[in-house]
Amino acid sequence: MKVNNKLSKLIKYYNLINHNLIFSENAINRCKKRDFKNETKNLTQQLNDLERSISEIKNCSLKDYATKMVFSDGNPNSKIMIIGEGPGANEDKEGLPFVGRAGQLLDRMLKSIDLDRDNVYITNVVNYRPPENRKPTDEEINKYLPFLKRHINIIKPKILLLLGSTALNAILGNEVVISKARGKWYEKKIDKITISIIASFHPAFLMRQPEQKKLAWIDLKMIRQKMKDSGLKKIALK
Ligand code: URA
Repeated sequence: MKVNNKLSKLIKYYNLINHNLIFSENAINRCKKRDFKNETKNLTQQLNDLERSISEIKNCSLKDYATKMVFSDGNPNSKIMIIGEGPGANEDKEGLPFVGRAGQLLDRMLKSIDLDRDNVYITNVVNYRPPENRKPTDEEINKYLPFLKRHINIIKPKILLLLGSTALNAILGNEVVISKARGKWYEKKIDKITISIIASFHPAFLMRQPEQKKLAWIDLKMIRQKMKDSGLKKIALK
């Protein structure tokens, strides 16, 4: 009776002082600084925060002409992220990337390697439509680039597909040209994460130059192979 009493007191005491921690054989890591702020924020919260930050960008004339911000489409849990140039008229109307004719071609390209918008994540270099569908200027690209890099670091893709020269130059620098850079894998650290990057022709360019589709097909097959080699398909489809 006495022993039981003592024992139950002891158990209460250990519970109180967290005995699991005391009896654990794992070393306590007191040194590694953890990013608690972001760990506790889930993916949706982080994306919502980013979307709000983009909506608050000041002194950007793109916003004077565009009707809607175009943030992203697809599956934020995907390990395959696709970056285009910027919204066109249809995207500006709907607030979603790649919904016009170039988007329909992109969907067919994805389908050819068994992908769709449920297992890739899509965004653009700039989130507002440049007037008259012109290319975004360097100044505009540089304004949106920190937000794009933050976007990439939230999604943490294993594969990044850059569609066209605007996305290519924004991410890999102005020294590279799409005709030479496409069809090759690049490993690059973007802020905190290292990603396999491949560039290919923009679907709008492929509509104007359909004979280049055979090269785009090579790039798509490289992505399919990479997914296979790194067991990525399952992760992307989760
Ligand atoms: N072209 C792009 O680069 N992005 C879109 O969202 C649509 C067309």
